[in-house]
Amino acid sequence: MIVVRDVSKSFGGHLVLRPTTLEFPRGRTTVLIGPSGCGKSTLLRIIVGLVSPDSGSVTIDGETLTPATALALRRRLGYVIQDGGLFPHLSGRDNVALLARQLGRDAGWIRSRVAELADLVRLPTAALDRPPGAISGGQRQRLGIMRALMLDPAVVLLDEPLGALDPLVRYDLQEDLRRIFRDLGKTVVLVTHDMGEAGFFGDDVVLLGGGAVVQRGTLDDLITAPADESVRRFIMAHRLPGVATEGGGA
Ligand SMILES: Nc1ncnc2c1ncn2[C@@H]1O[C@H](COP(=O)(O)OP(=O)(O)OP(=O)(O)O)[C@@H](O)[C@H]1O
Ligand SMILES: [Mg+2]
Repeated sequence: MIVVRDVSKSFGGHLVLRPTTLEFPRGRTTVLIGPSGCGKSTLLRIIVGLVSPDSGSVTIDGETLTPATALALRRRLGYVIQDGGLFPHLSGRDNVALLARQLGRDAGWIRSRVAELADLVRLPTAALDRPPGAISGGQRQRLGIMRALMLDPAVVLLDEPLGALDPLVRYDLQEDLRRIFRDLGKTVVLVTHDMGEAGFFGDDVVLLGGGAVVQRGTLDDLITAPADESVRRFIMAHRLPGVATEGGGA
């Protein structure tokens, strides 16, 4: 569904991505993990067309991303931006509905779709009528998810979407989102720092590091057969239950 071919990116002489090739299969969830600053968000921004790569190409459902196709392609993607990216001067409802209104969707349809999504992500109705600055961080994250799902895109890209949620809400939302993605056959790319979450969502986990793909497989593959020492240390640093630590404990 998404093919990233030989894509590279530097910022001001600092190489973030070496020429990287990755395929994201249709109807599956691929999880991106890796140390802070390794280029996970940059890769999503390249796929969405917000950052242009220095080399290589991105193809979405057979269509190549170019300046001419970027806008139309982006409308077919749902994107949950790390840290929200909500407009501070708009209410939650208006943030979620903005693109649908621009596209001329019927007001009644918009109202019922927003209500349906609020229900789905368990967002209290009162939070919809306040600006993002006047609701909690977890509520903002849920608004970000609603905004991404509003137009029912086939592809959903989520950049650490659940980081600010308390464990109970996070647990429920993980269950709900995985069910939605599976039932509706969405192609999903999800960035997370939480290994439990990576294993829960990911048919496939991609570990980035040093500007390249270090290992791709199930979380279990990364744990039981790490490609190199950096993978072993990355996994170990997350102190997963049952994974031995350097001191030898479980
Ligand atoms: N617009 C930009 N201008 C300059 N440098 C940038 C820009 N965007 C990202 N970078 C740099 O590129 C590198 C990768 O950033 P990126 O946001 O992709 O990392 P990340 O893997 O998402 O990290 P995190 O896990 O902390 O979110 C970082 O060193 C960052 O400072
Ligand atoms: Mg990031």
